[in-house]
Amino acid sequence: MELFEKKFYESMTSKVALLNRITYYIVNRKGKQMRPMFVFLTAKMLSEGKVNERTYRGASVIELIHTATLVHDDVVDDSNRRRGFFSVNALWKNKIAVLVGDYLLSKGLLLSIDNGDFDLLRIISVAVREMSEGELLQIEKARRLDIVEEVYYEIIRKKTATLIASCCALGAKSVSEDEGQVEAMRKFGELIGMAFQIKDDLFDYTDDAIGKPTGIDIKEQKMTLPLIYALNNCSNEEKKWCINSIKNHNKDKKRVKEVIQFVKDKNGLHYAEKKMVQFQKEALQILENFPQSEYRDALSLMVNYVIERKK
Ligand code: IPE
Ligand code: IPE
Ligand code: MG
Ligand code: MG
Repeated sequence: MELFEKKFYESMTSKVALLNRITYYIVNRKGKQMRPMFVFLTAKMLSEGKVNERTYRGASVIELIHTATLVHDDVVDDSNRRRGFFSVNALWKNKIAVLVGDYLLSKGLLLSIDNGDFDLLRIISVAVREMSEGELLQIEKARRLDIVEEVYYEIIRKKTATLIASCCALGAKSVSEDEGQVEAMRKFGELIGMAFQIKDDLFDYTDDAIGKPTGIDIKEQKMTLPLIYALNNCSNEEKKWCINSIKNHNKDKKRVKEVIQFVKDKNGLHYAEKKMVQFQKEALQILENFPQSEYRDALSLMVNYVIERKK
C-alpha cells in the first residue's frame, strides 16, 4: 500500500498550480483505500502473491475514479464534509469541484490508455457509465418519491457496487486470463458493494462521527432501504404523512428527525441490516470456491470489515 500511495499521488500531478494544490489537499485526507486493497488481494489470491505493474496501475485508476466520483457526489448532494474535513466544493466551490472531478477521471482513463491496458480499461469504463446512470436514476426516483425495493437495489448496484465489482474483476484480470475466475471475482465484488452501500445508508440514520454528514438523505429526498421498508409496512395515514414530510418539509430539521424516528419504529434499520448480511454471506460463499490461502483469508476479513466498519 505504501508503494501504491506513492504511485497514486504521482498519477494525479499537473502543471497547473491550482490543480496541484487541490490534489495535494485530497491525498492528504485519504480515505479507507478499500478499493485498491480489493484489487491487490484479488490479484494476489489468484497468482500466489505475485502482482505486477498492471495490478498497480489498475488500483490507481480505480482510486482516481473513486476520488473523482466523490468530488462530484458532494456537489450533487450539496454536502460540505468528506473524510472528516471540508469537501472540495465547500472550500473551492462547485465550479472548481466539477472540473477537478473531470480532471481526475481523465487522468485515470489515460493511465490505462498510455500503458495499453485496454482489457482493464474496458472493465473500468463499464463502471464509469453505470455509476453515472445510477446517480441519475437515484435523482429521477427522488423527484417522484415512488421507489420500490428492487429499484433501490438497481441504484446501489450501479452507483456503488459496480466499482467494487470492477476492483475484483480488474485485480483478477491483471494476473489471469481465466474468464471464469474474472467473472466469479466480479460477482464477489458486486455482492460486497451491495452490502457496502446498505451500510453507508444505515450510517445516515445514526449520529455517529463518520467523517461526513449524517441525516442528509431525507433532506435530499433520497429514499434508501430503511425508509422503503418502513413505507411498505405502515398504515396509509402514516405513509401519507411520511411522503408529505419528505416532499414538502424536507428542510425542516424537526420534521426530518420525526421521519427518522418513524423509520426506526417501523424496524427499517433491522430489515436493512438483515439484507446487508445476506449479501455478505453470498459474497463469502463465492470465496469458498477458491483454495485456502492467506490472501483468501484477508479477503474474507475485508468482507466482514465492510459490515462492521465504524466509518
Ligand atoms: C464512499 O466510499 C462512497 C460510497 C460508495 C458510499 P468510501 O466509504 O469507500 O470512501 P473513502 O474513500 O473511504 O472516503
Ligand atoms: C455513493 O453515494 C457515492 C457514489 C457512488 C459516488 P452517496 O451519496 O450515498 O455516498 P456518500 O454517503 O456521500 O459517501
Ligand atoms: Mg450521492
Ligand atoms: Mg453523497
